[in-house]
Amino acid sequence: MEVGFLGLGIMGKAMSMNLLKAGFKVTVWNRTLSKCEELVEHGASIGETPAAVIKKCKYTIAMLSDPAAALSVVFDKGGVLEEICSGKGYVDMSTVDATTSSQINEAITKKGGYFLEAPVSGSKKPAEDGQLVILAAGDKTLYEEAIPAFDVMGKKAFYLGEVGNGAKMKLVVNMIMGSMMNAFSEGLVLADRSGLNQQTLLDVLDLGAISNPMFRLKGPTMIEGNYPPAFPLKHQQKDMRLALALGDENAVSMPVAAASNEAFKTARSLGHGDSDFSAVHERTRDRRRF
Ligand SMILES: NC(=O)c1ccc[n+]([C@@H]2O[C@H](COP(=O)([O-])OP(=O)(O)OC[C@H]3O[C@@H](n4cnc5c(N)ncnc54)[C@H](OP(=O)(O)O)[C@@H]3O)[C@@H](O)[C@H]2O)c1
Repeated sequence: MEVGFLGLGIMGKAMSMNLLKAGFKVTVWNRTLSKCEELVEHGASIGETPAAVIKKCKYTIAMLSDPAAALSVVFDKGGVLEEICSGKGYVDMSTVDATTSSQINEAITKKGGYFLEAPVSGSKKPAEDGQLVILAAGDKTLYEEAIPAFDVMGKKAFYLGEVGNGAKMKLVVNMIMGSMMNAFSEGLVLADRSGLNQQTLLDVLDLGAISNPMFRLKGPTMIEGNYPPAFPLKHQQKDMRLALALGDENAVSMPVAAASNEAFKTARSLGHGDSDFSAVHERTRDRRRF
């Protein structure tokens, strides 16, 4: 099966590499072209533009940072729309809002192409291990045709119905995760300042009802003040912002998420946008400011 892949960031690189290793023929494109080199060493071809990739492949997957990037790759010069046509499928796995996804769907289907949104739950390591959870919505036929690729990239794919449902599900999940991260960070600081051992707190948490892989994975590095980017903080803040907008639309009051968004914004303004989202801990434990 020949697939195109647009966007070779932390996630896209790992996902496209798994497709190559599983025997797919992959044509890649990335805004910063040099990031294609490692994939080429593993057998990928390069497309000069998103349009060139679409022209070559029946199916193209995108994994881009945010709504602006997802729209730019479709609508701008050399973009997806220039070559999408009847019989070609476009699967956008980026985390965006439902409106962005619907705009892309409308433009692609107008040209005869078919569209699926398929954001993912899971981070760098699950992407490398092919263990993502895929939240797909849109064209059912394309969903079924994409299953061999989803089986390589993920451990489970959900089909959620009409375009927008995948985006919304992903935003709800990440809103919960962002709020949990802030509560966890505050707990670590409170333990420390009140004279408790933070590692003991991690041990206690891990044995109880709120034990989870995120606390287990991020806790030790947060204690060390070490935040190698698996999920960049700027993307987590984007997801909080988009989830809050979804709350606005549906008149859902979300004071916990709103406060968490502020914490991530502050962390961004302190220069932690490209660090892992757990770097929000730097904001919590900064004695001078809070
Ligand atoms: N990392 C995670 O744990 C994780 C987990 C689940 C979902 N996600 C979501 O998956 C998506 C990708 O995340 P990531 O962690 O891989 O991000 P990343 O490492 O920051 O990569 C972002 C990708 O988007 C490209 N891009 C950014 N702006 C662009 C533009 N205007 N035009 C064209 N390309 C553009 C970047 O190209 P350049 O290389 O040229 O900058 C890069 O390929 C995001 O929506 C994120 O929220 C991430």
